Amino acid sequence: MAGLLEGKVAIITGAGGGLGEAYARLFAQEGAAVVVNDLGGPRDGSGGGSSVAAQKVVDEIVAAGGRAVANGDDVSTLAGGENILKTALDAFGRADILVCNAGILRDRTFANTSEEDWDKVIKVHLKGTYCTALPVWKWMKDNGGGSMVLTSSTSGLYGNFGQTNYGAAKAGIYGMVRVMSIEGRKYNIRVMGLAPGAYTRMTSDLPGRAGREPDPLSLPQNVAPGVLFMVSDLAAEHSGKILGVSARGVREIKMLETEGFAPGRPYTAQEVAEHAAQVFFDAPENVHKLAAG
Ligand code: NAI
Repeated sequence: MAGLLEGKVAIITGAGGGLGEAYARLFAQEGAAVVVNDLGGPRDGSGGGSSVAAQKVVDEIVAAGGRAVANGDDVSTLAGGENILKTALDAFGRADILVCNAGILRDRTFANTSEEDWDKVIKVHLKGTYCTALPVWKWMKDNGGGSMVLTSSTSGLYGNFGQTNYGAAKAGIYGMVRVMSIEGRKYNIRVMGLAPGAYTRMTSDLPGRAGREPDPLSLPQNVAPGVLFMVSDLAAEHSGKILGVSARGVREIKMLETEGFAPGRPYTAQEVAEHAAQVFFDAPENVHKLAAG
């Protein structure tokens, strides 16, 4: 049976380990030729600059009969992004799929977030998504379209203690998905947002996980099928949507508004307080409306 990605070329950033590696392996199994990007280095983004991790994944994919090539560029510069696209074009002549996945973590409470930690996290995640997506976007625009998955996080969509830098970057990526999906319509470029959940080095020390063996179900290979769905033609109708994907399942995450207090005339602050039940979701009336769909 033909794979879901037969004949496609997929670029995955940060695919030398964790989730990206699992995507690369599955996409290759499904027939895609894969560019495995990763610049290596520790979780906080210090050091790096080696394509050893990416090459190891490539060697294993090739040994299993797949097609893959390694790239060790830094996603957070436009020159790096351009070279990642060049790697795909030189090796395989096309770029049909991009998964922006590379990321780092420098968790601190807001009061303790240094300018350096702020800049670095924003640079790798938010600017890195811009730097890798832009060259590929331009290529897809001139060549009939394609499919992109940009990696956000519930930390940015809902909030999480100690992650203002990371949450800001991830919420920014959500904004990119919304805008790019609108602009991509006329070029047949599909853009979806992803909030993954898996046991990787990034999440291995979360409360309750530190020092314990991972639940085998939570490993990245059990998340990859949801992301395969997103990049494949099976998700053709779903551009602009954000999916939460973990081993336990796949769900849509959406921005919602209440009916609101909208008197259609100038109003006072006091009136807003008096109509809190219409303004806020946490008013019992609105919770009921939400549950009723
Ligand atoms: P990971 O740390 O295993 O993988 C991230 C990879 O990105 C690493 O291999 C790293 O070397 C690479 N990387 C870092 N900076 C780079 C750069 N400048 N250029 C190229 N490569 C670079 O982490 P994991 O968990 O696999 O994360 C993948 C993505 O999913 C990240 O964007 C992360 O923020 C996001 N995410 C993960 C969650 C989880 O539950 N594991 C939850 C929410 C979001």
